[in-house]
Order: sequence, then structure tokens, then C-alpha cells
Amino acid sequence: MGTYSILIADDEAQNRDYLSEILSEEQYAVTAVANGKDAVARLSQDPFHVVLTDLQMPELDGLGVIRYLIENRLNCIGIIYTGYGSVKTAVDAMKLGAFDYLTKPFKADEIKVVVKKALDHLALQEENTYLKQQLKARYRFENIIGTSDTMQKVFSLIDKVASTDSTVLVLGESGTGKELVARALHYNSPRAQNPFVPVNCGAIPEELLESELFGHEKGAFTGAFRARIGRFELAHTGSIFLDEVSEMSPNLQVKLLRVIQEREFERVGGIKPIRTDVRIIAATNRNLEEEVEQGRFREDLYYRLNVIPLNLPPLRERDEDIPLLVKHFLAKYGKDKNPSLTGFGKKAMSLLMQYKWPGNVRELENLVERMLILCDGTEVELGDLPDKILAGCTQASSSLSHIDLPESGIDLSTAVSEFERNIIIQALNRSNWVKNRAAKLLNVNRTTLVEKIKKQKLQKPAEVKLG
Ligand SMILES: Nc1ncnc2c1ncn2[C@@H]1O[C@H](COP(=O)(O)OP(=O)(O)OP(=O)(O)O)[C@@H](O)[C@H]1O
Ligand SMILES: [Mg+2]
Repeated sequence: MGTYSILIADDEAQNRDYLSEILSEEQYAVTAVANGKDAVARLSQDPFHVVLTDLQMPELDGLGVIRYLIENRLNCIGIIYTGYGSVKTAVDAMKLGAFDYLTKPFKADEIKVVVKKALDHLALQEENTYLKQQLKARYRFENIIGTSDTMQKVFSLIDKVASTDSTVLVLGESGTGKELVARALHYNSPRAQNPFVPVNCGAIPEELLESELFGHEKGAFTGAFRARIGRFELAHTGSIFLDEVSEMSPNLQVKLLRVIQEREFERVGGIKPIRTDVRIIAATNRNLEEEVEQGRFREDLYYRLNVIPLNLPPLRERDEDIPLLVKHFLAKYGKDKNPSLTGFGKKAMSLLMQYKWPGNVRELENLVERMLILCDGTEVELGDLPDKILAGCTQASSSLSHIDLPESGIDLSTAVSEFERNIIIQALNRSNWVKNRAAKLLNVNRTTLVEKIKKQKLQKPAEVKLG
């Protein structure tokens, strides 16, 4: 973590100056404001680690500031102080969620100690949240990271089907973690102690794939000097992972269908049927239904494989997983490559959340690895990001503005207001009407958003009650 930032709220200039001076001595970045309202405005704009607030202030008092921190779940610790120390207010402040309570006149050492304690507490809190999430992920499925709802659904499906022998078809764009999921299925199954055998059907030339899968007898074809067992035999009692299964030739599709239905096959050039006990996990980044419609993939085989479909969402549809994945990859590669890089700055992270990630998690993993090698600072800043990511985001924002001016002209302020209304509604819906989150999506502060909501007379839709 870089410099810690501290916000001071006090209506007396003398106190502000004194506290700023003491805390600046500790190399903290200090900001001071003169009342509670300004404090809240600053908190809604910039991240602070600690806020030190006077109790009695005009407009909004210290308790109001603490309440704002708690209600908005800011990752910031509140400390309150007063000259009119009464046990009652101290208790009120602590009940609200203040970390500590001080009375004036201040002693420089006391303030330094309390702020240091608050920062230690914050670091511990952050580490705790991270460890808990990590533990949950590791305990359940090796290293599959994801707290988004869609990934939680994936986890619960893995949970349900891992223990069975059912065929699973893992679907998802390139880099979404299909192989990771296939391994998790195997290593959480009763077959975990037996082999997991992956075959990339798209990477092996057609004429070799058959012998790769089923093996061959000596002399089966030119160059077959001795017999060789195939992957299905290797995977006996374990699982076989047929990656890019859509790439199989029609001839091989027939043979695979037979293995699935009859659990037996012959080696190439052989006549003796070989029985096999394997669990089949297949994966593809193509739309198999479309492949069936186009006549490129056998319909009967599709149904045999698609017993349990497991859809991996693209990364752009679960951007809340991005910070956690970044943390995971930093931990994975950071120790060797660059232990001083601690994370991504706020702006850089916000671009990562907007970027479309055509290469999904794999692309993100590569980016983190690259940043570890290329960045000199402690945090990745905007300027460190590759052009592709910067450009991806400007493209997204400029496409928003593409409206053709009608022949008859337009009323500019109505058009602007309509656009604003539409985009605010989208942000609110996407964030479940949590205004802080919506404000983040729109890159405005919460107060501004609230004003705009009022002006546009927007209302949260009533919950639909079922039954
Ligand atoms: N949820 C996740 N948590 C942690 N790492 C992940 C996650 N998803 C993917 N990865 C990592 O991203 C990389 C790509 O994952 P994987 O190879 O499983 O993708 P894939 O869907 O099989 O891609 P392709 O279709 O290109 O073969 C791997 O290094 C994997 O460890
Ligand atoms: Mg793969």
C-alpha cells in the first residue's frame, strides 16, 4: 500500500492546523475540511484510510460523518473527538461504529498512536477479507476464483455433479477457465486418485487423433512399429477431458459416440474390444447447437455429451471478480517476479473493470504477469496499462455518443437530458439501486448522482411480490 490518507474535519482552523502538522510528520497524506458536510463530500470522492472528526460542527456533526462511513460501507476508519467529553456521546459514537474516541486538548503522541492503531486495524481487516475469500475458494475448488453470483452458481453445480459419473459439457469462451473446471470436477470426484487425462482435439491432426484416443496395434499403419495404448486406456478408472470436442472429424464423432454408449472401443488396426471405465468431461468454446444445425456436429453425440451443461460466463459479465482475480495472480507470480508491486491504482483498476476482456481470465492473468515485470512503482498506474486496454475503454465511451443529427435538427438540452436519464437508469439497475455503486459506474460522486435522480424524478421500481 502507498501513502495512507487521512481526512480531518474540524470547524476550528487552529485544530485543523495542529492535527495536520502532527500527522504530516508521520508521512501521511492529510486533507482538512471545516465541517461535516464537506467531509462527506470529500469521502464520496476520494478514498481515505482514516477520518478524524470533531464532534460538534455546524451543518453535519461528527456522528453524522461516522454514520456516513458506516452506511456506505466505506473502507475507512472513523475516530471522533470532542472538547465536551461526555460518556454518553462516546458511547453513541462507538455504537455507531467509530473506532475510537478522543478528548481535547490533544496530546501529539496520543493522536499518533490512535491513528497508527486504526491503520493496523484496517490492514488486518483487509487481509482478513482476502484470506477468507481465498480460503473459501481453495477449500472448495483448488484455485478457481470468483465471488460473483454466476461463478457461485458454477461452484454449486460442480459441487453437485463432481461426485457422479455423469458426462459434463463445459461451455465458455476462450480463457474462461474450462480446463480449470474440468480438473476441479475430477479432483473433487471419487476418481480423484486415478488419472486425469486431457486431450486437445483441436491441436492434434485428424489422422493422429484416432490413434491418440484409442491407441493402435503394431503395423496398423505405416510407421506403427509397435502397439501403443491410447488416452482412453490411460484414463481407465479416472476421467478423460476432451477439450475442443467440436473439432472432431465426423468419423471420430461416430467412434466417440460408440465409446459413450457401449463403453468399449478397439485400438486402430485391432479387433479385440477394450472395455473402459472413464468419466467423460468435454469442452468447447463454440456454440455446439449451431454446429449441429450446420451439420458439422452429430446431434446424437451432442445429446450424449450435453447431459450436464456447465456454462462459464465471460469475464466482462462478472467484472466484480476482477479485483479478486488480480489479487490472486499478484500473489501467484508476485513473489518471484516483483514483490514490491502491491496492486493496481484506483483509476487503472476502474479501466480493468470497463475493458471487454476478449481473452477473458487468461488475458487478465497475462496482463498481471506483464505488469509485474514492467512496473517500477508500488502500484500499476493508468500510464502503465497497454494501449489495447486504454483504447478498449475510449472506444466504449465514444460509441455512446454516436447519434446522427436528424435533418430537422434536435433540441439539445432535451436530448442531453434524455441521454442522462437513460444512462442513470441503467447504472441504478445494474447496481440494484445502491447509489454508491451506481455513482462509481458513472464516475460522479454520490451527491451529484442523488441530485440528478431528484431532478429526473427517478424512483426505485417497487419490488414485485410473488405468490
Ligand atoms: N476463475 C478463475 N480463477 C483463477 N484462475 C482462472 C480462472 N479462470 C481461468 N483461470 C486461469 O486462466 C487461464 C485460462 O484458463 P483455462 O485454460 O482453464 O481456460 P479455457 O476456458 O480452457 O480456455 P481455452 O478455451 O482457450 O482453452 C489459466 O491459467 C487458468 O488458471
Ligand atoms: Mg482450454
